[in-house]
Amino acid sequence: VGTPAKQITVEMDSEKSGYIGSKVDLRCRFINSFPPVKISQVTWQKLVNGSKQNVAIANPSLGVSVAPPYKDRVIFKNGAVRRRTPNLEDTTITFSALGLTDEATYICEYTTFPAGNRENTVNLTVHVRPTTQMSLSTPTLVARSSNIKTPVATCTSANGKPAGTIRWETRVPGEVTTREVKNADGTVTVQSDYILVPSKERHKETLACVTTYNEEVYTDSVTLDIQYEPDVSVGGYDGNWYLNRENVQLNCQADANPAVSLYQWRLINGSLPSNAEIRDNVLLFKGPVTYDLQGTYVCDATNSIGTQSESVEVSIIGMEKHPQNNKSYVLKNKWFFFLMQWLFYFLCYS
Ligand SMILES: *[C@@H]1O[C@H](CO)[C@@H](O)[C@H](O)[C@H]1NC(C)=O
Ligand SMILES: *[C@@H]1O[C@H](CO)[C@@H](O)[C@H](O)[C@H]1NC(C)=O
Ligand SMILES: *[C@@H]1O[C@H](CO)[C@@H](O)[C@H](O)[C@H]1NC(C)=O
Repeated sequence: VGTPAKQITVEMDSEKSGYIGSKVDLRCRFINSFPPVKISQVTWQKLVNGSKQNVAIANPSLGVSVAPPYKDRVIFKNGAVRRRTPNLEDTTITFSALGLTDEATYICEYTTFPAGNRENTVNLTVHVRPTTQMSLSTPTLVARSSNIKTPVATCTSANGKPAGTIRWETRVPGEVTTREVKNADGTVTVQSDYILVPSKERHKETLACVTTYNEEVYTDSVTLDIQYEPDVSVGGYDGNWYLNRENVQLNCQADANPAVSLYQWRLINGSLPSNAEIRDNVLLFKGPVTYDLQGTYVCDATNSIGTQSESVEVSIIGMEKHPQNNKSYVLKNKWFFFLMQWLFYFLCYS
């Protein structure tokens, strides 16, 4: 059995939170197991730097009054508070259009007779959902032989309260640097860079940034666009360029980003034979093959990043070379026709 004083309490939530711009109920109930106790006034106050500022007052004879800064944003939720003969047992307030400066401790104080004052507090926290943004780093990423690590993508979770968190998901190995900036209004901006050595192999790889805020998860991704010099190969020479063979040609292939803008053909020693015709990345030799075609041919492929070359040494032979394993080709073909025949019968007669 306690003293009567312990039986009269003001019931509130100890903590409450709401998003900026939204509304929140701050609960306050008078619990009294020892009637009659007369409620002479209920005062809601904001605790600012240790001093109290009035927010709203409910008085049985004077009515309800809300302090000017809160006029349009604070109301007593229970209509009974505003009645001519009010009931002040539930003086919950609804706080709308929450702003960052509303974050504070609020006191709900009951002035009673003869029991005296009873009060309790609620800590109101105002949350701000951050805006997230993912971007590729500028300027354009270029694969350089210097192999210098550089930020390739940046992910930002801006102006969050509390701060958002950033995590990267990718199969590309790299380093992460994350920094947090506390803004003047109490929000936090988190920014994270993904750092790696830009290379041809990383071109078109995907980086996903996963930002988390109050259990909400957002994923955003970018695809790396890394520019690199042409990676050149020369095809078309099969080692069987014999005299009088017709229409032989060399072709130059290049993997490049951006695409190759210029292909050039040259012979290491001397100038291209007179029957050579350049068609972009193809070097065509018109008419029958002669010994004049012999030499080392170079293809230079150029894009905006640079020029790379590849060469092929062409030898002219007097007689056509026949594949040594001709027999096995014939044998293989025999088996192939046998199988096709079988398949044909199977399809027709089944
Ligand atoms: C609280 O006090 C601090 C330092 O005394 C001051 O800078 C700040 O402006 C005060 N806040 C309010 C809301 O008065
Ligand atoms: C409410 O805020 C005050 C002042 O910041 C703090 O001392 C107190 O521990 C808080 N109460 C709760 C329940 O978080
Ligand atoms: C090109 O000619 C030079 C001298 O004229 C010679 O030393 C060099 O070996 C030649 N190179 C090729 C690839 O034929």
